[in-house]
Amino acid sequence: MAKMWAGRTSGETSALADDFNSSIRFDCRMAKQDITGSMAHAAMLGATGILPQADVESLIDGLQGILDDLESGALEIDMSCEDIHMFVEQVLTERLGDVGKKLHTARSRNDQVALDLRLTLREEIDEISAKTKALLAAVLDKAEAYKDAIVPGYTHLQRAQPITFGHHLLAYASMFLRDLDRLADCKKRMNVSPIGSCALAGTTFPTDRRFEAEQLGFDSVCLNSIDGVSDRDFAVELMGAIALLQMHMSRFAEEIILWSSWEFKFVELSDAFTTGSSIMPQKKNSDMAELIRGKTGRVYGDLFSLLTVLKGLPLAYNKDMQEDKESVFDAVDTVKMCLDVFAGMVETMNVLTDNMKKAAQTGFINATDLADYLVGKGLPFRSAYKVSGQVVAECIKTGAVLETLPLATYQSFCDLIDEGVYDAVDLKNCVDRRNSEGGTSVSSVEAQLALMKAML
Ligand code: ARG
Repeated sequence: MAKMWAGRTSGETSALADDFNSSIRFDCRMAKQDITGSMAHAAMLGATGILPQADVESLIDGLQGILDDLESGALEIDMSCEDIHMFVEQVLTERLGDVGKKLHTARSRNDQVALDLRLTLREEIDEISAKTKALLAAVLDKAEAYKDAIVPGYTHLQRAQPITFGHHLLAYASMFLRDLDRLADCKKRMNVSPIGSCALAGTTFPTDRRFEAEQLGFDSVCLNSIDGVSDRDFAVELMGAIALLQMHMSRFAEEIILWSSWEFKFVELSDAFTTGSSIMPQKKNSDMAELIRGKTGRVYGDLFSLLTVLKGLPLAYNKDMQEDKESVFDAVDTVKMCLDVFAGMVETMNVLTDNMKKAAQTGFINATDLADYLVGKGLPFRSAYKVSGQVVAECIKTGAVLETLPLATYQSFCDLIDEGVYDAVDLKNCVDRRNSEGGTSVSSVEAQLALMKAML
């Protein structure tokens, strides 16, 4: 088929070049946004008197017809077209004749593609945010249900201090809340209209960029037409936000994998979200969590791919920029899938509180509390720390634990110790006393829950 841009050249490119140059395989997903954008453009051409109202009406009807036919399946996208913009204009011209050829007045594919991508990603942000909220809601539910389940908190993957499982889960909830905030922030800068920048320099026609922006629900217009067609920061920013969101899911997935192991056995994933081994009959593998962790690498790759594409580009549009879409769509599709799977996995996850409690009873996670108790008795913290360490060393030697170590043994290390020590090292008391804002006590976790629910 003759190229729409044939003129200067014959437009007869080799099949190899056509295939290499074409983006319709991946930009076809912007068909609806392309048509919506064109309808607003036609309306603007009418409102400013650039085109007669009768032409504008046929253009808008024609575009609506294409959209309806694509949605009903009556029209199929022709994958031999160069891109979605050319496809829509070609069908419009076939259907309307010469009037169809007027649509591209005061416009370029450069501002058109920038517009389509912003419109498309703007919707994707809403979808990603909704799915993040669903995951967050599942995490908050579990946190509420296990707000008083005692589990060891870790540093260096060594048992450190007693915490509640609800408290631990709310750490992830905090991350997801920040992710939502970042997505909303990214949308603010994305929601600025590039249309009317034209090829790069603006236009000689008396266009009304703000009219068109308003029709399409943008908050404002790009200030500079050269930036309007060459800026892909919004896609990079979105991928940055997605990369962080994936990283949070990946850390959470890593813990779920650990917790599901026989070594921990803190949770058991539902059969619906695990797989078996083809050879080892006993296996129950956390493949979903592993895939979420694995796909994080792919999303980082998407981000780096676009950053690298952009780093050496002179202003304004360069065809390199066509490479933006596969990366950003891949990142968007991957994170959406991971969010859905993660929410289902968390909702159906069985929490084994007895095993958590057992783990909390070994590892001397109340040693800090013993030191704090001695500080209460008047010892300076460094001295108290030393006594507590010596008591722990003794326990390790004799196979004892702080909860049941005889008082006489305690007193052989420090004569300030009395019966009150047993209250001090009781795990439940250790948790309840950490009542500082954001801390692990049940009341503190309840306060965090209330705030987070209100934010959601
Ligand atoms: N398919 C192109 C892209 O995705 C559309 C813009 C083409 N503009 C151009 N001057 N060749 O970037």
